[in-house]
Amino acid sequence: MARKRKGEGQTALVTGASGGIGLDLAECFAKDGYNLILVARSEPALKQEAARLAQKYNVTTTAIASDLGVQGAGHKLADDIRARGLAVDVLVNNAGYGIAGAFDSSKESDQLGMIDLNVRALVELTHAFWPFMLANKRGGVLNVASTAAFQPGPLMAIYYASKAFVLSFSEALWREAQGTGVQVSCLCPGPTASKFRERAGTGATRLSTLGTPVTSMSVAKAGYRAFQKNQRVLITGFRNRALARLVPYLPRTTILNIAHRLQSPI
Ligand SMILES: NC(=O)c1ccc[n+]([C@@H]2O[C@H](COP(=O)([O-])OP(=O)(O)OC[C@H]3O[C@@H](n4cnc5c(N)ncnc54)[C@H](OP(=O)(O)O)[C@@H]3O)[C@@H](O)[C@H]2O)c1
Repeated sequence: MARKRKGEGQTALVTGASGGIGLDLAECFAKDGYNLILVARSEPALKQEAARLAQKYNVTTTAIASDLGVQGAGHKLADDIRARGLAVDVLVNNAGYGIAGAFDSSKESDQLGMIDLNVRALVELTHAFWPFMLANKRGGVLNVASTAAFQPGPLMAIYYASKAFVLSFSEALWREAQGTGVQVSCLCPGPTASKFRERAGTGATRLSTLGTPVTSMSVAKAGYRAFQKNQRVLITGFRNRALARLVPYLPRTTILNIAHRLQSPI
């Protein structure tokens, strides 16, 4: 008789699942038997990936196209999921974007849009599904932050600040969930190969010349393992971990100068 997979009977909702880290996280969950709800804006890509993962891993998948950057979209998505009779055991808040450049020359809508997606939608969805997880004493939340969460980021100020929020919120939730059976992890990747850079316009910064980005699947696998262990925070990569741990020991102005230099165009 086939061994029961860890996630059988549970459903994972993954935002930003049409590509990159989100799609690979979805694959990690499907491999362990979790049914999936995949969310992003690109409906054709979502549907295609949902069908592929359903067939490959023998799980049920549902693709829901939604722009989570629209205010209230998190609530609407939660209502839509309930109306379909679906439950969410694990919430993977992965959808996010960054925009490089000085705050001065930025468009207000782009900056606020980052807060709406990276922060607001993440909180709305967590708030919607958290009580169900606590009542069931299982499942949890895997939030995708970034190594940007560990220091302020001149020339990408709002993105860094939004990820600092995600890290702080996740750690606090992790503590609140102690003893409940619910798990919380915050995945903090460093530079990763995906469409993120192209969308963020970070291609020509000094930071981008430091090393080769790792694959999104290696990040997803590490994040998935961390979640299963209820690891509070996972920073991917030895160098990223070392740098993040160094930050609290350096003068704040030194950190700001380094971050400014790294985010500057070549
Ligand atoms: N790549 C890196 O170097 C890196 C490093 C650290 C942290 N991260 C974080 O990792 C997460 C995933 O990024 P990635 O590297 O995989 O980037 P990506 O390839 O650009 O993927 C982003 C995903 O989010 C979805 N998305 C974007 N805007 C959305 C919106 N308004 N509503 C719903 N879905 C939306 C995209 O799909 P649609 O376009 O179809 O909507 C896509 O599925 C992000 O939170 C990012 O901040 C990335």
